[in-house]
Amino acid sequence: PYQAEISQGRLEMLLTFQQMIMDLTGMDISNASLLDEPTAAAEAMMMAKRANKKNKSNRFLVDSNTHPQTITILQTRAKPIGIELVVEDIQNSDFSDCFAVLMQSPGTNGEVRDLTTDIAKAKEAGVLTIVACDILALTLIKTPAEMGADIAIGNSQRFGVPMGFGGPHAAFLATRDEFKRMVPGRIIGVSQDVHGNPAMRMSLQTREQHIRRDKATSNICTAQVLLAVLAAAYGIYHGANGLRRIANKVHAKASSLAKSLTQAGFELASEQFFDTITLNTTDAQALFSKAQAQNINLRLLGDNQLTIAVDETTTTQDLSELLAVFSVDSLTESESSLTSAMLRDSDYLTHPVFSRYHSETEMMRYLKRLENKDIALNHSMIALGSCTMKLNAATQMYPISLPGFSSMHPYAPVDQTKGYQQLFKDLEHALAEVTGYDAVSLQPNAGSQGEFSGLLAIHSYHESRGDFDRNICLIPSSAHGTNPASAVMAGMKVVIVKCDESGNIDINDLKAKAEKHADKLSAIMVTYPSTHGVFEVEIKQVCDIIHNHGGQVYLDGANLNAMVGITRMGEFGADVSHINLHKTFAIPHGGGGPGMGPIGVKAHLAEFLPGNPLERDSNAVSAAMYGSASILPISWSYIKLLGKYGMQRSTEIAIVSANYMANELKAFFPILYQGDQGFVAHECIIDIRPLKEQSGISEEDIAKRLMDYGFHSPTMSFPVAGTLMIEPTESESKREMDRFITAMASIHSEIQKVIEGEWDKDNNPLKNAPHTAIEMAGEWNYPYSREEALYPVESLKQSKYFPPVKRIDNVYGDRNLFCSCISVEDFA
Ligand SMILES: Cc1ncc(COP(=O)(O)O)c(C=O)c1O
Repeated sequence: PYQAEISQGRLEMLLTFQQMIMDLTGMDISNASLLDEPTAAAEAMMMAKRANKKNKSNRFLVDSNTHPQTITILQTRAKPIGIELVVEDIQNSDFSDCFAVLMQSPGTNGEVRDLTTDIAKAKEAGVLTIVACDILALTLIKTPAEMGADIAIGNSQRFGVPMGFGGPHAAFLATRDEFKRMVPGRIIGVSQDVHGNPAMRMSLQTREQHIRRDKATSNICTAQVLLAVLAAAYGIYHGANGLRRIANKVHAKASSLAKSLTQAGFELASEQFFDTITLNTTDAQALFSKAQAQNINLRLLGDNQLTIAVDETTTTQDLSELLAVFSVDSLTESESSLTSAMLRDSDYLTHPVFSRYHSETEMMRYLKRLENKDIALNHSMIALGSCTMKLNAATQMYPISLPGFSSMHPYAPVDQTKGYQQLFKDLEHALAEVTGYDAVSLQPNAGSQGEFSGLLAIHSYHESRGDFDRNICLIPSSAHGTNPASAVMAGMKVVIVKCDESGNIDINDLKAKAEKHADKLSAIMVTYPSTHGVFEVEIKQVCDIIHNHGGQVYLDGANLNAMVGITRMGEFGADVSHINLHKTFAIPHGGGGPGMGPIGVKAHLAEFLPGNPLERDSNAVSAAMYGSASILPISWSYIKLLGKYGMQRSTEIAIVSANYMANELKAFFPILYQGDQGFVAHECIIDIRPLKEQSGISEEDIAKRLMDYGFHSPTMSFPVAGTLMIEPTESESKREMDRFITAMASIHSEIQKVIEGEWDKDNNPLKNAPHTAIEMAGEWNYPYSREEALYPVESLKQSKYFPPVKRIDNVYGDRNLFCSCISVEDFA
C-alpha cells in the first residue's frame, strides 16, 4: 500500500488485524505481520537488544519448552551478531546474565503456564521479557500483557489460514507503548487527510529498511499482508463470542482426550493445557508407529514423550480412532482443568467491527466495500517499478487451494509429502537452469530472508577456509534498502560504493574499496539489472574485482523479469542470488506479502544452504524447510505453463514494453538512465526534477493526480529522489500502456498550465489531487471546473474511480501515532 489514498480498504483490514492482536495479547501496539513465528521471535530478540541498552549482557535466554524451530531460527539470527543463545528451563533461572528472555505459553509440549512470577523475576534483574503465545488460547487464558511481558509474538495461522506445509501465515509482534518506535515491520496508523477526515497509512516508516537501510529496525520488506487480512477477516466474522466458542470446543476435546487417557493409566506431562497434551510414556515410539499405521500423525518429543494436538476440525470419530491406538474404548467427557488464576477475564474484540459482520452476506458486502476503496490490478495497470505487478493467472493460482497442498502440516513425514517433494525438485531444477546456479534452496520466505541466508552461506564458506575476519560487505549506493539491512543482520560492516551518472557502479571507487578492504572483504551485493533499471555493463568486471580480492558476489536477483531465458546470473561470475518468486514467477504481492525469496548458489556454497529448521546449527532461516511452501505451486505452474520459450518471450515483451513506455514518455519527461545503446531493461525512470524546478509540481503531486485518472502511481523516489520508476511488465496490453501514457501526457499539459500561469501554482488540480466523490457533491471552491478535476480525459467517462480520502498528512500521523481501530462514527 505505497499510495495510501487508494489503499484504504486493505489498510482498514490491517488496522483491524493490529486491533485484534492488541486485544488478544493485551499489548498497546502491534505490527501488521511478520514472516513466521520463529522470525518474529528473532525480530523480538533484536528489538529487545536495542531496547535494553542499560543491560550490557550479550546473552539471550530461551525457555526449553519452546518450539524447536523457534530455537533454531533464534540461533541462526543470534550467532552472526554475537548474541549468545542460552536454552534452559527458565523456572530455575535467576536471569542474572542476559538482556532478554523468551518464554512460550502454551509451551511446545502444550503446557499452559502462568508466567507472571518468572516475568517479575526477570524484570527485577533488568531483563526484557518476550512471550510466544497462541491467539486462540488467548481468548480463554491470561494475556502476555497481564502477565507483565514486554513483547508478545506468535502466528495467526489458526485464524482461518491453511497450514500449507509451513506457510504463508502472518506472524505478529506486539509490544508496550514505550517500545513503539523500535517495532520491526509495517505498522498501519491513522492520520488525517487535508480535509481533516481520518485516513490510514503506513506509519513510522523512518524505522524501516527502505529509509534507514543499515540502521533499520529490521530487514523486513515483504511480510504476510494478505494472510493478515485473512486472519483479520476470520476475527471479524467470528467476533469475540465466536472465537471463544471455538476455543472452548477445542479445549473441551483436548480435556476429554486427556481424561480418557489418564483414566486408562497414561500420565500427562502437564495438567494445564489448551489444545495439546503430552503423555509421559516409555512406549512412545511404539504408540507413535501404531498411530501412523492408522493414518494418524502424533509428535514424538524425545524418547519418552508423545504429544497430541486437536483443533476445531477434529471430529468425535477422529478422537475414537485416536483412542483406539491407546486401546481406550470410549471418550470420557471432562471439564477444563485450567486453574481460575490462569483464565482471562478481560474483554476483547469489543470494537463494533467485530460484531457487525457475522453473516456471510454481511461479510461479503463488507469485503466488497473495502475492495471498492482500492485500486488493484483488477482495475488498471500498476506500473510499480521494482515490484513487477504482473498477471497472477487463475490457472496458476488454482492449485494452492487443493487440500493436498493447503492442508499439509509443516512437519508431515517425508513419505506423506511425495507430491510436494516432486514439485520442489522440479522447481529447484527449473530455477537453477534459469539462473545458471548449481543448487537452489526454496526456504527463504521473502527476498530479505534470501539475502540474509545467502550472506550466511558466504560467511560460512569463508570460515570453512579459515578466513574468520572477512566481514566487509560492499554495497553500491543505489542498492535496495534490504541489502544493507541484511548485511548488518549477517554481522557484516557495510561500505558504500559510489555509482556514476548513468547509475552504474563506479568501477574506480569499487577497485579502491576492494583493495582497501582486501583482507576483510567478505562480499559485494549488486542488484542486476541495477535498481536504476539498466543492465550494468561492467558486471563481469565487478565480479572479477571482488573475486580477486578474496570476496564473494551476491547478485540481488529480485528483479529477474528482465533476464529469464536471455541471460543467467551464474554465468556472470556471481556466487549467490535470491529470486523473488512474488515478482517474476507470478506469486501475487498481496499488498505486502506473501512472497518467496529462494536462493541459488554456485557449487562451492551448496553445503552452506539453509537446512532443517528442526535441527540446531542448520542455518535455517524460516520455520519450515520449504518456507511458504503452499504458494510454490503458483511459480511451478507458471514455469510449466509457459515453458522455456514462453518465459523467454515474457522477458522480451517486458523489456520491449518498458522501452515503448520510455520512448513515448520521453517527449514529456526525461528518462533518467539508459544503457549505452539508449535502451532500458524492464523498467524506466522518469525524472520529474526539471519540471518541478519550473512549476513547483512534485513527483508526489503527479502520483496523487494519477489517482484522479484511475491509476496507481509508479514507484516514487526510488532509487533516486524526485523520480518515478515505471515497470509495465509483459502482462499489460499496448492499449493499457497507451491509456497510462495518455494520462501522463495530460498531466504534463496540466503542469504546463501551471508554468504558464494559467493555473495558480498552489491551487490547481495537481496540488489538490486526489479529488473525492464527496467533493463533487459539496460546494465547489476550486478555481477550476469539476470536469477538469475529475474527468480530465474522455475515457474516464466510461469508468471512473473515486479515491475515498483526500491527500493524507503523513507527518500528522507520525506525530499523533494511533494504530488501532478508530470509532465507527469517524469512519462514516
Ligand atoms: C532489488 C530488490 N531487492 C530485494 C528486495 C526485497 O525483497 P522482499 O520484499 O521479498 O523482502 C526487493 C523488493 O522489492 C527488491 O526490489
